[in-house]
Amino acid sequence: MTLARIEWLHLRNLATGSWCPDPGLNLILGENGSGKTSLLEGIHLLGRGRSFQTTLVQQLIRHGQTEARVTGTVSDRVGFRHSLGVQLGRGTRELHLDGCKPASSVELLRTFPIRVISPVSTALLKEGPRQRRQFLDFGVFYENAGFLEAWRRYMKVLGHRNALLREKKTHELEAWNQELERYGTMVAEARACYGARLLPLLQDTVKCFLPAVSRIELKTAPGWNEQKSLIQALRDELPGDLRQGYTQSGPHRGDFSLGVEGRSARAYLSRGQTKLLVYALILAQSRLMEASDTPHTGCLLIDDLASELDGHNRNRLVDFLAEQRLQCFITATDATAFNRVIPACVHLEQGRFRTDIIQSTTKTT
Ligand SMILES: Nc1ncnc2c1ncn2[C@@H]1O[C@H](COP(=O)(O)OP(=O)(O)OP(=O)(O)O)[C@@H](O)[C@H]1O
Ligand SMILES: [Mg+2]
Repeated sequence: MTLARIEWLHLRNLATGSWCPDPGLNLILGENGSGKTSLLEGIHLLGRGRSFQTTLVQQLIRHGQTEARVTGTVSDRVGFRHSLGVQLGRGTRELHLDGCKPASSVELLRTFPIRVISPVSTALLKEGPRQRRQFLDFGVFYENAGFLEAWRRYMKVLGHRNALLREKKTHELEAWNQELERYGTMVAEARACYGARLLPLLQDTVKCFLPAVSRIELKTAPGWNEQKSLIQALRDELPGDLRQGYTQSGPHRGDFSLGVEGRSARAYLSRGQTKLLVYALILAQSRLMEASDTPHTGCLLIDDLASELDGHNRNRLVDFLAEQRLQCFITATDATAFNRVIPACVHLEQGRFRTDIIQSTTKTT
């Protein structure tokens, strides 16, 4: 999917405007505070129904206004177009997809897959497993049609089991254990299968960003002792589960780890190298989506690229992106940060959008 057109109204410091971006690489330039991240947030809102900066989407409404709106048209690789929209009011959020109100933001996500690389992305490797599960699940979601349903059912059953644990109703647990085994195994297998498919592309992408690395591994952990089945782990851990009042084993505790030269990437790599590995992971995920036979291709948002990487790696990344069939939006304060001229370049000045040096399809507002 590529974003063919976006329109916004009262989005943070961006008053009103529209833009028809390029299906490849787009550069958004502007001084600090000009609205670059806000524009990325608007694009993100279309695919996820939420911001990547804050959980409080109401913060996106321009001060002094009562509502904000972002609408857009996306086009898949066989040419089908979809219209997307998100309208924010004080305390309300309305989603639109092809003229209807979808049941949840999952429908937007299915239509317009978006990934973000921002200064906080290193948390993917440096922090707890939640983000890594989300990373895997994002990829699996597009590859495996039954995954979301299995995950939802699993989480529902997990909630029942945890309630029974807290109420100490142990005699009722076995039926729920069996359900957890069923859906939990499906979820863990789907993640493992995805990890195995991602690894060759990760290895290939790492060659570009970390050429000194000769060996990289990705290992998914299902969330329970792999020597046992999930149901066995649930039975064995019952005393601990009863003490804690929740289920300790299952794919809700799943994770993945990266190994570099036989060592844990987390412990082995420098901060800058970790950043590059995170970039490689996210790009490998986008490449896998591109290579699979779904109509989707990912759209990638990279916020504040120049402050993230040194000049050499920054240019390597931009060259790499230019070779991919991937729509990408990069923000920067200065075009001279890049060796390559990125023709699809727009300027923001104190929330005003200028498109004077970009391709003719773009409308100036
Ligand atoms: N709800 C809002 N209404 C109006 N302005 C806002 C709102 N929220 C944030 N702003 C302002 O919008 C401006 C643009 O913020 P944004 O983060 O998009 O800038 P930026 O171009 O990414 O800057 P930087 O280069 O520093 O990252 C900031 O001055 C910010 O204070
Ligand atoms: Mg910014």
